[in-house]
Amino acid sequence: MPEVVSNYTYLTGRTPLPQLWTLGYHQSRWGYENARDVREVAGKFRSLKVPCDTIHFDLDYMDGYRVFTWNEADFGTPGGLLEELAEDGFKVVPIIDPGVKREPGYDMYDEGVKEGYFAKSPDGEIYVNVVWPGEAVYPDFGSPDVRAWWGGRQKYLTDLGFKGVWNDMNEPASFRGELPDDIVFTDEERPSSHAAMHNCYGHLMAKATYEGMKRADGKRPFVITRACYAGTQKYSTVWTGDNQSLWAHLGMAVPQLCNLGLSGFSFAGTDVGGFGADTTPELLCRWVQVGAFSPLFRNHSPKNTKRQEPWQFDEETLAINRKYIELRYRLLPYFYDLFFEGEKTGYPVLRPLVFHYENDPETWNQNGEFLVGENLLVAPVLEQGATKKPVYLPQGTWYDFFTGKAYAGGQYYLVDAPLDVCPLFAKEGSMIPTYEVMQYVGERPYDTLKMLVFPGDGRYVHYRDNGVDFAYRSGAFHRYVFTANGGSVNVEIDRDGYEKYEKIEYIMMGA
Ligand code: NOJ
Repeated sequence: MPEVVSNYTYLTGRTPLPQLWTLGYHQSRWGYENARDVREVAGKFRSLKVPCDTIHFDLDYMDGYRVFTWNEADFGTPGGLLEELAEDGFKVVPIIDPGVKREPGYDMYDEGVKEGYFAKSPDGEIYVNVVWPGEAVYPDFGSPDVRAWWGGRQKYLTDLGFKGVWNDMNEPASFRGELPDDIVFTDEERPSSHAAMHNCYGHLMAKATYEGMKRADGKRPFVITRACYAGTQKYSTVWTGDNQSLWAHLGMAVPQLCNLGLSGFSFAGTDVGGFGADTTPELLCRWVQVGAFSPLFRNHSPKNTKRQEPWQFDEETLAINRKYIELRYRLLPYFYDLFFEGEKTGYPVLRPLVFHYENDPETWNQNGEFLVGENLLVAPVLEQGATKKPVYLPQGTWYDFFTGKAYAGGQYYLVDAPLDVCPLFAKEGSMIPTYEVMQYVGERPYDTLKMLVFPGDGRYVHYRDNGVDFAYRSGAFHRYVFTANGGSVNVEIDRDGYEKYEKIEYIMMGA
């Protein structure tokens, strides 16, 4: 299976190493309607000491849902709020839909009409449907000129201070019936149709966005997309769209993310807490336990539902959210190493057990547990009211991450999992790199690496770079090779292209 995934991603492209902060916690809500709302959310994260790197701006930050505009009436001076949030370590990611408001006088519309950038009906008229801004027209992303135009617009966002882009509604969605099959789109240089281009519309929008962002700020672009195609992983992370706050949808998250990983989409996540309908404290606690191990870790919900930031319920729910978000921040170097490895191998960060144990038929249908890399096995509770979890551990010895208790693999266990426990196991011989918890990436330098060393012999390669740009592609990184043998650990630097840690601490795990 690893070979198949590696070859498939060799053909379609691999998820590139993301910026480190994108692996932290993201808070979103379609319902942050003004600057005051956002300030309050940001302030709560810091005062309650719940780590958070990113806040997502849904539709309301725009002026009348016009893409590449700013709603000054509710969000103040363009970009001012972003500067203020940046001082507190927050990165902001705005939503951008493809639908451009049909409105003479609006620059995006006027430019697109003048240059012939929008999809047309067979009679040659610009095709109009309805999305959030009302009547809207569709950029023809199959055309390289349209992609260059749209890509160039990303600079408007980076100049304001946005740090990524969230592409939504790019199936493309439409409120006044589906786009007819014969709407005229372009396939590179030649005319094509909606029927032919529909499935890669989101892909081409993500490509335009990625390339534009890269040109705009030179950093590793952070793009999220709802629609995608084989290969979109080169340009964008994905989330699984509008799930509901239902236990059944939490249960689906595990096979969805495993399948996305096997399909090349290593950087993926679900809306933590569930998007539609009201979440409950118990569901949010269990979802944050899955989210903490999902490559993209974002809590999101819409207007007219119960708010679901970590503090919206009781002290226990807040404490459990904090515990798992903090655990994620500890594990950041482990996730980052997996992304670095994945850029070369195509192996996903989150993997079904069968990925590494395909000769063990017990792993073939395990939809309730998953691996993060090869060394961590996560067995989240996915059922309402459950406080025990049946866990299958494959061959080898596994160690409870929290208590150190050893378990012989190749069998099932029924383990205790009260609400604040997500069963988590590390494999014998594994070394897991961790950092101290920060409230956001960049709060202080990560100058100490804390290596968790589980019993057994093993080898682990740890990677370190500036976490931001493409300098690593010309060698600006450090690589540490750890070897555990007979109870002692040895470290060698096999690539010396970045700053060293000031200190490496070893924490011996196991009972
Ligand atoms: C649909 C997206 O899936 C959802 O995440 C978003 O909140 C709404 N559009 C509004 O923009």
